[in-house]
Amino acid sequence: MSNVFYAPGEPRAAKVSDLFAAIARRYDLLNDLQSFGLHRRWKCRVAALSAAAPGARALDLCCGTGDIAFALARRGAETTGLDFSEKMLEMAQARSRKFRTPNSELRTPNFIEGDAQQIPFPDNSFDIVTVGYGLRNLASWESGLDEMFRVARPGARLIVLDFGRPPNALWRKIYFTHLKISVPLIGWLFCGNAQAYAYILESLKHYPAQLAVAEKMRALKLANVRVINLLGGAMAINYGEKPA
Ligand SMILES: C[S@@+](CC[C@H](N)C(=O)[O-])C[C@H]1O[C@@H](n2cnc3c(N)ncnc32)[C@H](O)[C@@H]1O
Repeated sequence: MSNVFYAPGEPRAAKVSDLFAAIARRYDLLNDLQSFGLHRRWKCRVAALSAAAPGARALDLCCGTGDIAFALARRGAETTGLDFSEKMLEMAQARSRKFRTPNSELRTPNFIEGDAQQIPFPDNSFDIVTVGYGLRNLASWESGLDEMFRVARPGARLIVLDFGRPPNALWRKIYFTHLKISVPLIGWLFCGNAQAYAYILESLKHYPAQLAVAEKMRALKLANVRVINLLGGAMAINYGEKPA
């Protein structure tokens, strides 16, 4: 089972895309089950950190079924969600049709198909660029951050939410055991697909997580770079601002 998604180059992107196509229908349910609903809170935290407000242009990369994009739109930002999986975007579009807000001036996000490593927008286009549980999936997380930086306007906020690497060795062992055993088991029970969920741990082995993302943000000369560890670093938010 190991390394099945890690063929180098294009085959890997195709495999990741197939994986999300296979689990799209159950993706939201499984997120709730596996995080005990906590992922919702962490995504709200991303939206709060973004300071999204009417007049701001926001881009949510690897948007999947749209959680973060909807959270940004609810705060009034003109939001685009981008993903390369048609099936995940279909789920986002279906949610769009039910998107209700107390304020009728709020617009639903615009969901588009595209590659986060070649974002189809010019330089300096957005005030907010977010990615949730997406950077880890890219063939190169560094070039993903370069692209986020490129399309961000001066002063824009760049925010990454993803699985992390807990600094405490004992907690890391417990957490990785959870990812190795219970997460694929829940995937198998509720989605009939253990392999897709074993992929989380597999991808984490190839992703240096929050500290390296912060280092890369500093190398890009982002200001106010911060790491917010959640659940003792099992999850993390990386935050930085493109210099004005
Ligand atoms: C784990 S899901 C995260 C979805 C959503 N952001 C969330 O937090 O629930 C990862 C998403 O990244 C997308 N993805 C992976 N690689 C991508 C790429 N190169 N370009 C665009 N989307 C990509 C997948 O299709 C999938 O929808």
